[in-house]
Amino acid sequence: MKDFTSRLLLILSVAAAQVSFMACLSKSFVERDDAILFDDIVTNQNDEQADEPAYNPTTGRFIAPANGTYRVENSGPLFVHLMRNEDIVASGTNHDDKFETTSCNAVLILKKGEIIWVRLKHGIVFGGSPSHYSAFSGFMLAPTS
Ligand SMILES: *[C@@H]1O[C@H](CO)[C@@H](O)[C@H](O)[C@H]1NC(C)=O
Repeated sequence: MKDFTSRLLLILSVAAAQVSFMACLSKSFVERDDAILFDDIVTNQNDEQADEPAYNPTTGRFIAPANGTYRVENSGPLFVHLMRNEDIVASGTNHDDKFETTSCNAVLILKKGEIIWVRLKHGIVFGGSPSHYSAFSGFMLAPTS
């Protein structure tokens, strides 16, 4: 019975979590050591703060709208760091000049206001719409107090 109740609470809390985003690059991005501005929005849902999008395409930053467990991911060429505030939480690289794909992802327990972004360390991130070669996405798995 205890197991059933905890499973039910988990299902209810997952159903209540409505924070998700996916943004892609409409064209290649060549700035160095700066936030990649994923400008082509596929999903941008924030039921925690309905007036604020979860992801801001003008800054390239996702700001956690509530305490919770989140899954975030970046995929695309070439050499990238997945950033939590000013810290690297995951990296992806193929260390060459070809358009090979790399990806990095993380599961994080975030406090409201923490910032997730993708920093281009070196090279060019290949982008194009509607093909969406490169994407930055994430969602809240479950809220925490
Ligand atoms: C979020 O977490 C922080 C730090 O653990 C806590 O101080 C704050 O009260 C929490 N906020 C909510 C809305 O639960």
